[in-house]
Amino acid sequence: MEASDVAACWEANAETWTRHARAGYDLYRDVQNTPAFFATLPDIAGLAGLDIGCGEGSNTRKLAEAGGRITAIDIAPTFIRHALEMETANPLGIAYRLADGMALPFADASFDFATAFMSLMDMPRQDLVLAEARRVLKPGGFLQFSILHPCFAAPGRKVMRDEAGTVLGIEVREYFRVSDGEIESWRFGAAPAEEKAKVEPFRVPRFHRTLSDWVNLLIAASFQLEHMHEPSVDAETAKAVPYLADTYIAPLFLHMRVRKPVRA
Ligand SMILES: C[S@@+](CC[C@H](N)C(=O)[O-])C[C@H]1O[C@@H](n2cnc3c(N)ncnc32)[C@H](O)[C@@H]1O
Repeated sequence: MEASDVAACWEANAETWTRHARAGYDLYRDVQNTPAFFATLPDIAGLAGLDIGCGEGSNTRKLAEAGGRITAIDIAPTFIRHALEMETANPLGIAYRLADGMALPFADASFDFATAFMSLMDMPRQDLVLAEARRVLKPGGFLQFSILHPCFAAPGRKVMRDEAGTVLGIEVREYFRVSDGEIESWRFGAAPAEEKAKVEPFRVPRFHRTLSDWVNLLIAASFQLEHMHEPSVDAETAKAVPYLADTYIAPLFLHMRVRKPVRA
């Protein structure tokens, strides 16, 4: 799939995605993924950061609220428009820009750190975006990112539940099948049925890579692996919020923090 087709899919998703995410229907993000990401993020107060694939800017604003001096990019104009509207209404000093993560419009060594919340697995050339992230980081700077878990959220992931909705297991069917832009269609599961019925499903081009692919991509980009995290809910939360209970059995997300060596 051409990069321009990927961008067109995200532009088509952006309006509903923004409205639904802001209505609180991206429950995995709000309840689990983002809090876990920030729990392991180093202190960014006063640091210059780049958020790659910022979407409508929810996580970007959290970076700014944590004290980062933030620049953020996304490929979809509608996401950038919504993020900018929010910035105008409630300024946090974030500079948003329409740009491709695989060709960043910034000089070498511009940032102390970079983040990518759930966006790298959506890009056709992860080697390029990692090389670009490394290029724009200062020596010693870090990149922290979250992706769909390569092992447990491979294409065809199915959560097996009994009639009462209790999660029995996760089905993994096609871990080794690298996908290059196959479209996955879905809506935020936590959206009310009447809201889901009103909108077209998101069309998300998927670029699945195995765990060893990801590690080898990071090695090829000369990053040093510093930290990994696989967010999960505890038994109590799994009971209280059955929607998230699949992550008690196996993680849906993988977080990694890597660092650009001080010396090349
Ligand atoms: C799953 S969304 C995550 C959005 C946001 N980071 C969040 O956590 O809410 C993936 C984002 O990556 C963006 N994206 C996809 N390909 C991109 C590319 N090549 N360059 C920049 N952004 C891209 C999409 O437009 C979308 O906003």
